[in-house]
Amino acid sequence: MSNTEKSAIVTGGGSGMGAATARKLLENGWSVTIFGRTKAKLDKFLADIGQPDKIHAVQGDVSQRDDVQNLINSHIAKFGRLDGLVNSAGVAIGGSISEVTLDDWKQVMSINVEGVFNTISLAVEHLKKVGGSIVNVSSVSGLGGDWGFSPYNASKGALSNFTRALALELGNQGMRVNAVAPSLTDTDMTSFLTESDEMMALFKSRNPIGRAARPDEIASAIIFLLSDDASFINGVDLPVDGGISASNGQPNFFG
Ligand SMILES: NC(=O)c1ccc[n+]([C@@H]2O[C@H](COP(=O)([O-])OP(=O)(O)OC[C@H]3O[C@@H](n4cnc5c(N)ncnc54)[C@H](O)[C@@H]3O)[C@@H](O)[C@H]2O)c1
Repeated sequence: MSNTEKSAIVTGGGSGMGAATARKLLENGWSVTIFGRTKAKLDKFLADIGQPDKIHAVQGDVSQRDDVQNLINSHIAKFGRLDGLVNSAGVAIGGSISEVTLDDWKQVMSINVEGVFNTISLAVEHLKKVGGSIVNVSSVSGLGGDWGFSPYNASKGALSNFTRALALELGNQGMRVNAVAPSLTDTDMTSFLTESDEMMALFKSRNPIGRAARPDEIASAIIFLLSDDASFINGVDLPVDGGISASNGQPNFFG
């Protein structure tokens, strides 16, 4: 999928799957704008990569429409076109339905769902001009429920179905819209789980591959879906989950 002129925006690009995706896109010849809330993360990524002609960083919040408009304007001013949009910015807030507050719910929805509405609705005219492609980072948490993360489940379920609806709407305008649905991946978001032997033993017992994913394993699926190699794939929500979603949910009775 190597190319010399395509460019992409990656939200949440300062860390985790977003940073891994930006890195792989750069390795494949794309130019990339990373977008995130935390300036220190963006600065560190830029310093690690070098290549100021190929990588650009914009600070902002996906839930703030003005910040997203600034992102799009800044990307176009720097690279002149937009071929790919990866929506990786996201947050998870845990708690039972008695514990989570309306503010928690609104925060998760405003970033995980409204944030993606903001980026896509403001980028779509630029993407249409070049037959661009969108990949949303949803989750296995959008395919089914988790214990103790209901607002997050609602947000990722919404994102997965938003993806399918846009695939229908934009497919006949030369664009493709897909999502990935990762299971537990070793990033800042999940360090409270991946750093606990007890939690990881539980997870390993339910995941056929028996470990958390690395961010670069999710990035590989994202850049495939973003690229022309996936030119007839539109509207999928691709599980990248070591086989978790292949299970009907019953435990392994036979060890
Ligand atoms: N880690 C997992 O196990 C896992 C599994 C499935 C899906 N996901 C999803 O993957 C995506 C990436 O998460 P990650 O695991 O790489 O974690 P991460 O915390 O490293 O990355 C999320 C990034 O989004 C940025 N961000 C958060 N809110 C933002 C906002 N309002 N505006 C702009 N940027 C914002 C953060 O600064 C961070 O850089 C998220 O959408 C998450 O829901 C994660």
